[in-house]
Amino acid sequence: MATAKPVLCVGCTVIDFVTINESFPKEDTDRRCRDGFWQRGGNASNVSTVLRLLGADVEFFGMLSQSDGFRVLLQDLERRGIDVQHCPTTDKDPPFSSVIIVQGTGSRTIVHCNKNYPYVTWEDFSKIDLNRYGWVHFEARNANETIKMIRSVQEHNRTHNEHITISLDFETLYEQNLPMCALCDYVVFSKELANQQGWRTAQETCKELARRLESKSPCIICPWGSTGAACLDAASNGCSMVAAYSPDRIVDTLGAGDSFMAGFIYATSVMQNNLKDAVSFANRVAGHKITDYGYDHIAELQKYDKLRTG
Ligand SMILES: *[C@@H]1O[C@H](CO)[C@@H](O)[C@H](O)[C@H]1NC(C)=O
Ligand SMILES: *[C@@H]1O[C@H](CO)[C@@H](O)[C@H](O)[C@H]1NC(C)=O
Ligand SMILES: *[C@@H]1O[C@H](CO)[C@@H](O)[C@H](O)[C@H]1NC(C)=O
Ligand SMILES: *[C@@H]1O[C@H](CO)[C@@H](O)[C@H](O)[C@H]1NC(C)=O
Ligand SMILES: *[C@@H]1O[C@H](CO)[C@@H](O)[C@H](O)[C@H]1NC(C)=O
Repeated sequence: MATAKPVLCVGCTVIDFVTINESFPKEDTDRRCRDGFWQRGGNASNVSTVLRLLGADVEFFGMLSQSDGFRVLLQDLERRGIDVQHCPTTDKDPPFSSVIIVQGTGSRTIVHCNKNYPYVTWEDFSKIDLNRYGWVHFEARNANETIKMIRSVQEHNRTHNEHITISLDFETLYEQNLPMCALCDYVVFSKELANQQGWRTAQETCKELARRLESKSPCIICPWGSTGAACLDAASNGCSMVAAYSPDRIVDTLGAGDSFMAGFIYATSVMQNNLKDAVSFANRVAGHKITDYGYDHIAELQKYDKLRTG
């Protein structure tokens, strides 16, 4: 398997408090739940986890907190071999999300508590030596700062005649985050955001987004739940649908999108797959993710693949 330079994932890491029960709690009651746990969440943080489990070298870049409660997150990052050496720190309390999973219906209710936690800035980012990386992945948020960070990578690319690929995870705030798209190589655009725009299929989404970006369109990938994912090749302008990988059981869908993202980056950067094959692998990783809780079982998928391919 080809060796690739490390992937840098820029974004958030938060604590998730997950409660699992047969039914949803009634307001103003005091009851026990069936199961629960807390774990590290945040989109870029999750993408880092899955990339690492697939076997990639990965560094996370986001705001770390010095508060006691954050220590579990740091320990988990360290245990998994995710490099955090360039992250700035704050003494503010870390953001957290409360998640309630109802087993009866499979619903998941998520409440985010951010409390104006600071986000990494271009100034923090500019201290990193970009020579280390082959790929930089961004969450689409804090557009002004993130655009400056993306421009730094482009500038590095230009002046060092090197190939740093940029991907963007675009799931919120269409108007604010749209200007980032044209600066990236790959944009993964969520179904939720597509629905907000009134786009009814994955392929329509790729085409409409590309049309809005005109000549500067990146490769666009749009995962569409159990129907699979569409992708639009920037070079040929060809748009295709790639079938989903249907798992034999659905246990935990939290983080499926992040697993898709990591699968795509891994297949493109490490396995050197073409666009469609990379999307297919991303579907496979996401499909496998939901067969169990958390992410650890994704490493099995890789072992199985290595056995099968010799
Ligand atoms: C969990 O579900 C059980 C069974 O439906 C119910 O009796 C209990 O009150 C629920 N707990 C919460 C916190 O809602
Ligand atoms: C990240 O992964 C955790 C653990 O599976 C999950 O609880 C969370 O919903 C995922 N996504 C985000 C945005 O945190
Ligand atoms: C982002 O930049 C634009 C244009 O320079 C400015 O109008 C806007 O207020 C900025 N937004 C934030 C959140 O700083
Ligand atoms: C970086 O450079 C490579 C090779 O010249 C190019 O393919 C890629 O699109 C560039 N990426 C960005 C984000 O400018
Ligand atoms: C993080 O991922 C979740 C689940 O895919 C999504 O709902 C949320 O909007 C994402 N956050 C950002 C900032 O993209």
